[in-house]
Amino acid sequence: MKQKTVFVCQECGAQSPKWLGRCADCGAWNSFVEERAPGSEGTAGAAGSASHRYAVTGASGVAKLYADVEIESHARLSTSIDEFDRVLGGGVVPGSLVLLGGEPGIGKSTLLLQAAANMARTVGPVLYSSGEESEHQIKSRGERLAVGTAPLYLLAETCLERILEEIARIKPALVIVDSVQTVFSLKFQSAPGSISQVREAATQLLFTAKGQNVPTFLVGHVTKDGSLAGPKALEHVVDTVLYFEGERHHSHRVVRAVKNRFGAVSELGVFEMTSSGLRPVPNPSKMFLAERPSNAPGSAVFCAVEGSRPMLIEVQALVGTSSYGTARRMVSGIDQQRLSLLLAVLDKRAGFNLAGDDVFVNVAGGMSVDEPASDLGVLAAIASSVRNRAIPSTTAMFGEVGLACEVRGIPQATLRVREAAQMGFERLVMPEANIDPADRKAMGSCELIGVRTVGEALDALIA
Ligand code: TYD
Ligand code: MG
Repeated sequence: MKQKTVFVCQECGAQSPKWLGRCADCGAWNSFVEERAPGSEGTAGAAGSASHRYAVTGASGVAKLYADVEIESHARLSTSIDEFDRVLGGGVVPGSLVLLGGEPGIGKSTLLLQAAANMARTVGPVLYSSGEESEHQIKSRGERLAVGTAPLYLLAETCLERILEEIARIKPALVIVDSVQTVFSLKFQSAPGSISQVREAATQLLFTAKGQNVPTFLVGHVTKDGSLAGPKALEHVVDTVLYFEGERHHSHRVVRAVKNRFGAVSELGVFEMTSSGLRPVPNPSKMFLAERPSNAPGSAVFCAVEGSRPMLIEVQALVGTSSYGTARRMVSGIDQQRLSLLLAVLDKRAGFNLAGDDVFVNVAGGMSVDEPASDLGVLAAIASSVRNRAIPSTTAMFGEVGLACEVRGIPQATLRVREAAQMGFERLVMPEANIDPADRKAMGSCELIGVRTVGEALDALIA
């Protein structure tokens, strides 16, 4: 019998009987790859797997009355890494499938090996299956991380069926698959990393996670050019999606939850990469402000909130007359468009003439912020550089800047005020609309200065 084949878009999973240059669904170019049609995969074909596919979540197939459904309290398992537990929403939920995405070399394997060792010690046997490194390589990393004696099983395997067999044999309390792009199922002939392989691996591991109530972590690589089937295609399959972010040249790393069925999203865990693995940073403000120059023009500290977590971050600006024809505007850590807007406000409304100046803005420590609350900090740093007047190092600020030069209120102000007071700041320049009389009393040592316009803010900051 002739094999039936189908062309599958490696970006979005759309199928077509013919090869197409451009995917009609997602618009990607040259993304179609020929794969065997699911119906011709032998006995485990479409019909067989379809009935299997829908029997995952333990549902009986009979509708239940809302009132009769019992609430399952998810007793969470701790990874003994506070910052990691925090992004997971308070620990690992039994039976959950978690995807940890990030660029190669950022520290995914390191973090999961540390968590695996801790959980092997406290919860039970852990299976760490790697398709990227041999057992020796994992062990030599483990030595740096002081894994020690714990029932931690290493498996260097890329065949999905073999991994499932080992899970059935060892009955681990936690499974880690590093990375999902290296895993292939014998059911498909396409290469590991293709969208059908990645989906199959995730789906099969989902059945196992739910069926045997064993929490599972999947590592997913995100590459800049997207040549591997992106973990994006998996986001709807898994319970939780975490992204590992950070700059190679900085030691701090941030793990962010972008989807979590069992906790708050945009929750954040902060780590520092050291010679003995990732170390949790319980007080990020302190780390981000550690190298701040005192009383230097062009430096401003603002209060950001990531998830439920307030953080004080320094932003630096340098403004100078351009010696070339066109003025340069370079940013790192904030949005370029946002900078253009703030420069326009300073230029048009606050009497700064910046048309012929080079402007450089950098968020210190390699952090990136996309909150409008950072506007006032960026604007003040630029103004401070232009006027060559330092903002007192005991002053912090936050607030959104509008096109009419107004300073607008922003959410979660109390959280920011508290963090600034706790970090020992004595003055806080903030939107008038956000001033809460109760805060003013409670923050005795930290003076709250409410401002309505950019002019008022600059008077308070660099007068
Ligand atoms: P790794 O976890 O292998 O990254 P990923 O799995 O995301 O590809 O970590 C990569 C980097 O971390 C590597 O460049 C070396 C560095 N590293 C340390 O600085 N200290 C350590 O203790 C370890 C294990 C790694
Ligand atoms: Mg790795």
